[in-house]
Amino acid sequence: MIRICFVCLGNICRSPTAESVMRQVVRDAGLQEQVEIDSAGTGAWHVGERPDPRAQQVGKRRGVPVSGRARQFKAADFKRFDYIIAMDASNRNDLQALVGTEEDRAKIHLLRDFDPAGKPNLDVPDPYYGGDQGFDRVFDICTAACTGLLQALRRRHGF
Ligand code: 4NP
Repeated sequence: MIRICFVCLGNICRSPTAESVMRQVVRDAGLQEQVEIDSAGTGAWHVGERPDPRAQQVGKRRGVPVSGRARQFKAADFKRFDYIIAMDASNRNDLQALVGTEEDRAKIHLLRDFDPAGKPNLDVPDPYYGGDQGFDRVFDICTAACTGLLQALRRRHGF
């Protein structure tokens, strides 16, 4: 079993979207027994909340339910997960500040680095203070990157 945790700031916009999209991509490939998926936020402001209604709405429109409850990423999550996937460079910095070992550090990746058509080091833009179209864009970015992520996992782990 491969375990993945998507991480953003609040765990109400980007990472729940990535989690839901990845779950769909994995289910479409029939690999749900091989891959476990979760998400978390580096911040605690929204702990216990449902995903932002705008993220839920985009998901509903695209046929991918965006659900769950926000939780804060904790240092123990480095042991629980194999891939810890940050939405932007700031999330990655916050995660790097929590690592205990080099093994932990090696688990941290940027989501868009898995988009085969993308450039290195791109952020998933934070849609929180913008309009609905920002959430559509996040969904599209997650679709491209999660498809690439599954391809990378299949190559690396041979399933
Ligand atoms: P997320 O978006 O990190 O994609 O969940 C945000 C949600 C809340 C805040 C910032 C970003 N906030 O400042 O409360």
